[in-house]
Amino acid sequence: MPLESKAHRLKPVPQTEIRLASGEIVKKRRVLSGMRPTGRLHIGNYFGALANWVKLQDDPSNECFFFIADWHSLTSDYADTSQIAQNSIEVMIDFLAGGLDPEKSVIFLQSSVPEHAELHLLLSMITPLGWLERVPTYKEAIENVKGKDLYNYGFLGYPVLQTADIVIYGKDGVPLVVPVGEDQVAHIELSREIVRRMNFFYGWGFLPSLTNDERARAFHEAFRDSVPGEFVPVSEGEMSFVLSHARSNLGLDEFLLRVRANPQYFQHVPVLVEPDAMLTQTPRIPGTDGRKMSKSYGNAIELGESDESIRAKTKAMITDPARKRRTDPGNPDICPVYDWHKLFSPAETLSWANIGCRTAGIGCIECKSAMADNLIKWIAPIRARRAEYAAHPGRVLEVIDAGSKRARETAQGTMERVREAVFGWSAKRASVSGSAETAETKQHGRGIS
Ligand code: TRP
Ligand code: SF4
Repeated sequence: MPLESKAHRLKPVPQTEIRLASGEIVKKRRVLSGMRPTGRLHIGNYFGALANWVKLQDDPSNECFFFIADWHSLTSDYADTSQIAQNSIEVMIDFLAGGLDPEKSVIFLQSSVPEHAELHLLLSMITPLGWLERVPTYKEAIENVKGKDLYNYGFLGYPVLQTADIVIYGKDGVPLVVPVGEDQVAHIELSREIVRRMNFFYGWGFLPSLTNDERARAFHEAFRDSVPGEFVPVSEGEMSFVLSHARSNLGLDEFLLRVRANPQYFQHVPVLVEPDAMLTQTPRIPGTDGRKMSKSYGNAIELGESDESIRAKTKAMITDPARKRRTDPGNPDICPVYDWHKLFSPAETLSWANIGCRTAGIGCIECKSAMADNLIKWIAPIRARRAEYAAHPGRVLEVIDAGSKRARETAQGTMERVREAVFGWSAKRASVSGSAETAETKQHGRGIS
């Protein structure tokens, strides 16, 4: 072999795609995340989530889905829905201004993909109440949120809807990862439990290759004591009837023992993919008052904030409280202004602030003003893109609609599979019309796609 081509082969070829057993080529992983439309995004939202989404989207091995969780807003803000639609548009504008690209990611609106609601309903049937009552964010909200009545079915079911949001975009053999903050990890854990339970219930089937005789034998050896009569399952509809009956009569544990003890007869085809949380290091970005940045604290800078407003807010920022006089040295490590410098200022300015602060060589006023200069420089292009979209809301709606249409195609594929796993309607129809062969082909093709 000529040297050249060997050298070429040694070059690391970025492997961004994988080939499934079916021959279909897919991206290495699926990435999905969502945000409630609480209104215009601030720089805390940007560095806490959006910047990371943009990075993930720009990695060609990821197939990304990002959405606005407007139904989730409803779980607590059902009394006043006046802002949800406008806020959804604002968030979409910030997504686009902040760098999400509809060419690279599927960006969509939850309520435009009604399949989320259908999957939520099916998942809700198998989710034990205790699992939901134990979720830390639920307990915390019930104890602490005042002024809203949260004793609602929908609010308790928040993580079930979130599970549906995620797993409806799962694909067999492809990891499904969810970039979220620490506070959401318990929700993703719960999603895994719900998926596992769903798969236990609806993932078991007879091996599609069994002959009629073998099916009859499988039935006798594994389930005769649990299914009444002299019934011998032959068609696919009858087979899923047997499994469903046995599952219910024996209880899940005994059922699993028996199907697992008979791998020559039964197979497990997961209905849904278990997702994984992806926790990413995000920089610290406190609000102007040093607390967590939040719209409701009035300590945030929005992505569309004007120069004047940025100047005014940064001037009023909290600094190292020990630095009372200009001549007192300060500690930048405990100063929010310095946290912001780290995000917006070049290295020289950063060390100028660091050293100047510790030696009382600079004053807080000049330190803040230098930081504001750089923040403004950073925000200007985002703000300009934001203004451009805001001036053309029709275009924003087009992006939402096109993205939702794409998301829906994937979600519909999942729902067809899930419906069949739960109810077996197409098997039933096939056995009713007597075309057992069609049913068999269907069974072969069953699997996550
Ligand atoms: N619960 C998330 C939040 O409050 C929003 C959300 C809804 C979400 N559905 C999701 C996040 C699915 C990730 C995946 O931030
Ligand atoms: Fe904060 Fe800068 Fe003042 Fe130091 S000089 S306390 S870093 S604002």
